[in-house]
Amino acid sequence: MSEPEPMAARIGLLGRGTVGGAFHDLLGERASAVEAASGRRPQISGVLRRDVGDFDAILADSDLIVELIGGLEPARSHVLAALAAGVPVVTANKQLVARHGDELFEAARGAGVQLRFEAAVAGAVPVIRVVQESLGTIPLERISGIVNGTTNFILSEMSSSGAPYAEVLARAQELGYAEADPSEDVDGADAAAKMAILARLGFHTPVDLDDVTYEGITEIRPDDIAYARELGLSLKLLGVAERHGEAISVRVFPCFLYRGHPLAPVEGPFNAVTVEAPAITEITISGPGAGGVETASAVLSDVVSILAGEAPVHLPGRRLEVLRDLDSAFYLHLEVADQPGVLATIAEVLGRGGISVKSVVQRGSGSDARLVMVTHRAAESAFYGALEEISELDVMRAPPRAIRVVEEEYK
Ligand SMILES: NC(=O)c1ccc[n+]([C@@H]2O[C@H](COP(=O)([O-])OP(=O)(O)OC[C@H]3O[C@@H](n4cnc5c(N)ncnc54)[C@H](OP(=O)(O)O)[C@@H]3O)[C@@H](O)[C@H]2O)c1
Repeated sequence: MSEPEPMAARIGLLGRGTVGGAFHDLLGERASAVEAASGRRPQISGVLRRDVGDFDAILADSDLIVELIGGLEPARSHVLAALAAGVPVVTANKQLVARHGDELFEAARGAGVQLRFEAAVAGAVPVIRVVQESLGTIPLERISGIVNGTTNFILSEMSSSGAPYAEVLARAQELGYAEADPSEDVDGADAAAKMAILARLGFHTPVDLDDVTYEGITEIRPDDIAYARELGLSLKLLGVAERHGEAISVRVFPCFLYRGHPLAPVEGPFNAVTVEAPAITEITISGPGAGGVETASAVLSDVVSILAGEAPVHLPGRRLEVLRDLDSAFYLHLEVADQPGVLATIAEVLGRGGISVKSVVQRGSGSDARLVMVTHRAAESAFYGALEEISELDVMRAPPRAIRVVEEEYK
């Protein structure tokens, strides 16, 4: 008796650019492995590009839609149409999931079909699966991530070469680590979208992109990195999502990490995410955060999960309050007049704001005199209030520069 033909899985591919092209090739190469893992042999039922293919015809012919167009429209309409038709969707589109998460999850739940998006955060690193499935029932306290490879590459290069931001950005563009228009990456918006997704999954609560406060790396100077290195600190653009009882905070900011922090050694275009909870202490995963074939591998893993019938645990939760004023320690770099009493004046302003100084060094003299200090944790609003006062002092030769310091060392 002959073996029965395996059931085909017809995949409609929306977008065949960097990731879509790599996915198309990977699916061809790995078709037998996908079949062995899921019991269904995948085949591409149609490809949609700007001037190629018809979405409705592709959807009618597909058991699964893979959306790799990017951007909000027409990606959103196509994904919603597929879900409404009862067709599961895999997407790598962080902007779409971060901006329209409520609508998309509701549509998927309503239709009883899966929506998977492993590649939307940290490329090949299986962080969505870890947060949503492996740790899906564990109450998480904090998710910290280096989730933008472009900025991590730029900061690593600034740190190792001492070159200024603009020069390193140009090098990153030459090497293909930064786009021609890098603003979404360098201003922190890309990382904010990814952190909104991680916070939603980790804390089981709706999180909009507007709930995330973010800052980028464009104001970072090489001497800040050099001074901080002497203090054993390395600079990262970090996303931090925290649970505070019945509230959460989700933020992206450049910050210094002590050597003992699990994300401190992550260099170059790599991504890494640390998840913390009492039950697991701390878990860190890292790997390539972008690239065609790397991202396509994450897309393929979602396709296999859907074909194998593995549904992620969706624990819909109520909206939690979002906190924005939290406590932080700061690195503070002050270009000051070289005259007696300057340190005392600045310490007095900080003291009035309830900010105590952990360490201070005086550098240079004359027109190059500066104070570099690290504060203890204090309310950020109080710190920024004090900073404004300091910036107005006569002894200041330039605007003060402040960068957060994450104190956890996990020894
Ligand atoms: N590149 C990465 O390393 C990376 C990493 C993680 C996640 N992602 C995500 O993966 C997704 C795809 O990124 P990508 O880098 O592969 O983009 P890409 O190279 O620009 O490719 C986009 C594809 O979508 C098609 N497309 C664009 N507008 C369309 C429209 N209106 N109708 C139909 N098709 C349209 C393009 O068609 P044409 O072929 O006709 O131009 C192209 O095939 C994005 O959501 C991105 O954020 C990318």
